[in-house]
Amino acid sequence: MSAAKRPRLIVALDVASFEDALALIERLREFDVIFKVGYESLFGYGEAILEKLEALGAATFVDAKLHDIPRTVEAAVRALVRPSVELLTVHAQGGNDMMAAAVAAAAERARELGIAPPKIFAVTILTSIAPEELLELGLHGGPGENVMRLAALARDARCDGVVCSAHEVPDLKAFFGAGFLALCGGIRPAGSAHGDQKRVATPRSAVEAGADFLVVGRPITEARDPAAAARAILAEMEAARVGS
Ligand code: C5P
Repeated sequence: MSAAKRPRLIVALDVASFEDALALIERLREFDVIFKVGYESLFGYGEAILEKLEALGAATFVDAKLHDIPRTVEAAVRALVRPSVELLTVHAQGGNDMMAAAVAAAAERARELGIAPPKIFAVTILTSIAPEELLELGLHGGPGENVMRLAALARDARCDGVVCSAHEVPDLKAFFGAGFLALCGGIRPAGSAHGDQKRVATPRSAVEAGADFLVVGRPITEARDPAAAARAILAEMEAARVGS
């Protein structure tokens, strides 16, 4: 099976300083990748990196993983919308009203700025959560069941898609359709360290499963040659897409 649309690689700028993030961006600018500003960069040097990415016109994913009352999430989304920000995350466990507030705030703020709104993705079950941990969290059933239940909530709140592991993508696509987007973390090229990630998949298997966006951090950021690591992942993704 091969995905019809070309899936995109997202590189997480999970590095300690603004200078390190700039160096990584410089090394990866030649590739058609989206840069992810997550907790480490957002809380560490957020305004500086967002301004820089906007100045470069670089596609940006703000992985804010917002989870609060609707009014607070709405205010945060308004503050984060800007021209380069194409994707933004909230937690599905914030509930329908919270997700709907995020979607509405993104649309309204983008209209005020005269730009396209970012796509809103709802985080379902983090890829660092192992199946046996779900019960500890009070969640019955396996990752698949929980992801599908949270995805239904996200779809009803008009989110553009969900964040999940590649393992859940075939069921998601079968149930919600190809247009409901899947953004997958826990991507590990064969032979690379899993670290804290539990529900992992290779770039090839994520693309074959139908993932639209693959987010990769340490396999690129900690590689001796991040550009070579990104190039290899992009090649693996393209080979999987064309079915070779
Ligand atoms: O280093 P690694 O490839 O594990 O980094 C993955 C990145 O994707 C991290 O920044 C993490 O916050 C993010 N992410 C994830 N799983 C999710 C959502 C986001 O790994 N479900």
